[in-house]
Amino acid sequence: MKKKRVAVLGATGIAGQQFVAALANHPWLELRRLAASERSAGKRYGDALRDASSGQVRWWADGEPPAQFLDIVVEDGPALNVSDVDIVFSAVEADVARILEPKYAATTAVLSTASAFRYEDDIPLLLPGVNMDHASLVKLQQKNRGWKGFILPQPNCTVTGLAITLRPLHDRFGVKRVSMVSMQGISGAGRSPGVAALDSIDNIIPYIPKEEDKVRREARKLLGKAHARGITDADIEVSSTCTRAAVLEGHTEVVSVELAKPATVAQVAETFRKAGAKIAKLGLPSMPAELIKVHDDPFRPQPRLDRDAGGGMTTSVGRIREEPLYKNGVKYILLSHNTKMGAAKGTILVAEYLMQQKIL
Ligand SMILES: NC(=O)c1ccc[n+]([C@@H]2O[C@H](COP(=O)([O-])OP(=O)(O)OC[C@H]3O[C@@H](n4cnc5c(N)ncnc54)[C@H](OP(=O)(O)O)[C@@H]3O)[C@@H](O)[C@H]2O)c1
Repeated sequence: MKKKRVAVLGATGIAGQQFVAALANHPWLELRRLAASERSAGKRYGDALRDASSGQVRWWADGEPPAQFLDIVVEDGPALNVSDVDIVFSAVEADVARILEPKYAATTAVLSTASAFRYEDDIPLLLPGVNMDHASLVKLQQKNRGWKGFILPQPNCTVTGLAITLRPLHDRFGVKRVSMVSMQGISGAGRSPGVAALDSIDNIIPYIPKEEDKVRREARKLLGKAHARGITDADIEVSSTCTRAAVLEGHTEVVSVELAKPATVAQVAETFRKAGAKIAKLGLPSMPAELIKVHDDPFRPQPRLDRDAGGGMTTSVGRIREEPLYKNGVKYILLSHNTKMGAAKGTILVAEYLMQQKIL
């Protein structure tokens, strides 16, 4: 595969750093440019990562910041030169993304972790193993907007593990209703403004603004059907309560599902184990060996033990049981890595898919 040249916008943030870390030795992608806010612009990446007053290097991702990128001079987001890159990976807040992403998309593919364009009819959310056929809407988007490039947002990190587990259940048994309670990692709030340690340690915060609406809308869109004019949402009732727990990384979710057809616990476990078989055959570098790992041990999954399963790309599931409150009910607990599969590495996997399919 001929390498594509990429830029990362928001490179100093939590999701942006995960992009930089994942691109360090990527076989198909070559990192050329980095961009962030005015605060970081004009500095070497190594210096932009440093807190101006304390001197602390605010590196979040695994290991050390990759040495080969430390001397790249960070560009100001609005002035980012995309003329010599094939892809912009965008990891900025939605208000910034809403202004900058269309500017880049006029000429260049933009794959984004931000929510700004997630709810537009001609903009699909792509999630590996769930709805990669929605990529067919890229052409419609380019026609509608007169862009040479396009915008493809990743779904919200809380819906990622949920949709990955619902997809195979929906395909085999039909999903009618879903109830979910999340205990989400602190890193999901990013650094700016982030969640203060004083508020989060020894605590559970019972509300995350806008999250529950995102979970509902995005789950229905991800499980919906693509057609010539857009996507018809799946007719599934989704209700959730999203909370922030004193966990650094990894979103844990307690899920109850009403299925259209009866399923035994063994059938549900088997369905999860087979998930992602189609995309696994494509040989994409970031695809994990297991899209879903099923645990029989009732003490798993746990964030500390399981968030990095499959390099942070595997959704771990345990405690599969019958849900007596629903007809054909099943319940389980899942864990999904919010800044890897739920953000940067999941977006990189989408880029690999688009390259393999020659859409990119
Ligand atoms: N954290 C997660 O688990 C997660 C998961 C999925 C999706 N997301 C989404 O990913 C995006 C980034 O989240 P994050 O957690 O990485 O946030 P973050 O840690 O707060 O990082 C924000 C980044 O945006 C940059 N930025 C701020 N204003 C800018 C501007 N006007 N122009 C250009 N760059 C600007 C910052 O640069 P400076 O350092 O220069 O200020 C920083 O690099 C958000 O949309 C978030 O919803 C996050």
